[in-house]
This record gives sequence, C-alpha cells and structure tokens, in this order.
Amino acid sequence: MNKMENYSNYCCDEVVSDYAEQHSEKESELLHALDRETNLRTMYPRMISGHLQGELFKMLTYMIKPERVLEIGTFTGYSTICFASALPAESKIYTVEVNPEWSYISDKYFKNSGLSNKIISVIGDASEVIPKLCVNFDIVLIDANKKDNLKYYELVLPFLKSGGFILVDNVFWGGKVFDEKTNYDKDTSLIDEFNHYVTEDGRVENLLLPIRDGLMMVRKK
Ligand SMILES: C[S@@+](CC[C@H](N)C(=O)[O-])C[C@H]1O[C@@H](n2cnc3c(N)ncnc32)[C@H](O)[C@@H]1O
Repeated sequence: MNKMENYSNYCCDEVVSDYAEQHSEKESELLHALDRETNLRTMYPRMISGHLQGELFKMLTYMIKPERVLEIGTFTGYSTICFASALPAESKIYTVEVNPEWSYISDKYFKNSGLSNKIISVIGDASEVIPKLCVNFDIVLIDANKKDNLKYYELVLPFLKSGGFILVDNVFWGGKVFDEKTNYDKDTSLIDEFNHYVTEDGRVENLLLPIRDGLMMVRKK
C-alpha cells in the first residue's frame, strides 16, 4: 500500500471523524443551519471548516484568550463564528474575504449569532487589506488560496505578536503531499514547499496537526 492509500484509509476514515464528532461538543443549531445553507447555495461547500475543526478553533480561543484574531478567507462565516463565540468580552475577530458573493450568507449568520459586535468583516484582497489595518494579532487563521500560503504567512508574520499563533488549513492538500514528489502538480509543490519552509523557519516553532486535511500550527518566538 502506498502512502496515499494509507492516508485515505486513516485520515479520511469517516469512522474516526464520526466517532470524534459524536464525542465532542454538539454543533450548535446556528452552525448546523449555516453548514446546511452553505451546502445548498454554494459551489464549493467543502471549503467550510466544519464541526470538528470549528470546535478546535473554539477551544484554542478559550485557551489563548486573544485580544485580536485575524482570518484570511471568510467564505460563509463558519470559522469566524467559532472564533467569535469563544472570544473574551472586549476582543474582536477581523475576517477578510476577497469575494463578496457569499457575504449575504455570512452577514445573516453573524447577525443571527448575536456576535456582530465582535466581528469586523472586510471585503478585499488580504494582501491589500491587512497592512492598512495597523493591528497586531494573537491568532491568525490562513484559509484562502492554498498555493499562496507562503505569501500570506510572510504578510501576517510582522503583524503577529511575539508568542502569537498562525493556523494554516489544508496543508495535506487532500493527501496529495504524500504522493511521490515526481507526481506533484504545481499547487501540491507549493504547499509542500510551504510546509518545509515553516518547519525550517527559525523565527517560529510549529506543529502539523493531522486533523481533517492537516492544520499547520505555528508559534512566533
Ligand atoms: C477555504 S475558504 C474559507 C473557509 C472559511 N474559513 C470557513 O471555515 O468556512 C477560502 C476563502 O478564501 C477567499 N480568498 C481567496 N483569496 C483571498 C485573498 N487574497 N484575500 C481574502 N480572501 C481570499 C476565497 O474567496 C474563499 O471564500
């Protein structure tokens, strides 16, 4: 069995994720409805973080108690609501989305969640928006175009507080990074190079967490 098949048998095993979900905090009715509406109305519903990863974001937020969180890639707002729901009273999450197409969904759920006062939603390209915010962050979630992970990483690192965290989603790229390098397409090469880059970067320490499609956790020294 090659590494790719092995990966499919383990990480994508619905038995594992079903069991984990059943023995984790239940998904709220609001997030369940948002997931359902995302599946009904958008072309790429698989982009949503989903229950298990959303609960992880909540737990990390409870633990870190951040003042400022930044998210690159709002989509329909699932992960934004997860972070916002666990933030301390005066804290905020800035969420940046380049495509306004889904904001009618995210805005509706932000309002219905009662968390609008914690969410600063910005439409625009993260590369242009983030330097203008002039805010330093405790947690950054990079969840946009995966081939640009390195660009976003270098973009946000100066705005991350010392001891702050960057989370980067989908770094397994559906298991393609486990394939032979000779079979890599351009995107897989870039994602694999990013994973190596972070691991060798002396400015940070990192942990690649094998949850869902791989979550790179980075702590700035
Ligand atoms: C994987 S989805 C985000 C999923 C979301 N975090 C969630 O858990 O539901 C990626 C999103 O990033 C957005 N995006 C891509 N490039 C971007 C950029 N340069 N700046 C801001 N958003 C971007 C896409 O339009 C897409 O909606």
